[in-house]
Amino acid sequence: MQNVVQAHGAAIPTIGYGTYGMNSQEVHRVLPAALRAGFRHIDTAQVYGNEAEVGDCVAASGIPRAEVFITTKVWVSNYHPRHFGASVDESLHKLKTDYIDLLLLHWPGSDIPLPEQIGALNASVKAGKVRHIGVSNYNRELMDDAIRLSDIPIVTNQFEYHPYLNQSLLIESTREAGLAVTGYCGMAVGNVLSDPVLKEMAARYGKTIAQIVLRWLVQQDGVVALSRTSKIERLPENLAVFDFELQDEDMAAIHARARPNSRIVNPPGLSPQWDSTEP
Ligand SMILES: NC(=O)c1ccc[n+]([C@@H]2O[C@H](COP(=O)([O-])OP(=O)(O)OC[C@H]3O[C@@H](n4cnc5c(N)ncnc54)[C@H](OP(=O)(O)O)[C@@H]3O)[C@@H](O)[C@H]2O)c1
Repeated sequence: MQNVVQAHGAAIPTIGYGTYGMNSQEVHRVLPAALRAGFRHIDTAQVYGNEAEVGDCVAASGIPRAEVFITTKVWVSNYHPRHFGASVDESLHKLKTDYIDLLLLHWPGSDIPLPEQIGALNASVKAGKVRHIGVSNYNRELMDDAIRLSDIPIVTNQFEYHPYLNQSLLIESTREAGLAVTGYCGMAVGNVLSDPVLKEMAARYGKTIAQIVLRWLVQQDGVVALSRTSKIERLPENLAVFDFELQDEDMAAIHARARPNSRIVNPPGLSPQWDSTEP
């Protein structure tokens, strides 16, 4: 039985395998091993250009489709009502499936009014092509608007979250609205791996720093963590975070690693006005 986060009827496997930046060869090399290791949640996106390879690997795995949770994201250039539905059809075709478990709006930056974007997301569910819908990189205000505009519950907001980035305001609002938080860049592009506090903690728990950070993420209520590794031997390591618990003071010590200017993913023209927790 997978460890899952429940949100508005969606049961989202708590650790997802992220495929950002992986080309065709990489996906074919690593994803079959990730599925064998036990990953049952795959995160891709139209703009990653690897949905077809993700679809190939899931189909070839022999794992029943119902046991794999596939998230993809509509790219901003497809938000126009003329393109949205066709882009979802193309994602379905590439993923070689007749439904997407979770479809997200990838970034807010777009001239297409939000009601139209949310309407198109809803239509994809009503057409039976998508099980659950969500948003990504939304601040609190946009998330509230999306929730209000949607007939069908929004189940997650996916955004950057790691020990150096304080997201307490956004997390509190996301949780209060009953959405799952899906955290990306948990390793802060590798920066956490040389952190002295995390290093000491890892030694004390007999775990790796990556496991300490993943455990810190998923030990928080309603948090799903995405994880990407190109190293096949690290796949089981990144899933093995459910057999230990961080003490409260260690959870707090990791939260206290947050520092200003630590946001990594901030593309101009796509990002919203982020909710700041900095003075
Ligand atoms: N919605 C969005 O806008 C958005 C933006 C960014 C990311 N995402 C999603 O979130 C996913 C995860 O974020 P991310 O790709 O930045 O991944 P991440 O898991 O935060 O970091 C990946 C880095 O951590 C290293 N790493 C992973 N496990 C490790 C371990 N056990 N020991 C040592 N190093 C380890 C990897 O190196 P090795 O390969 O050498 O192991 C890689 O350099 C993405 O792939 C994507 O699916 C979404």
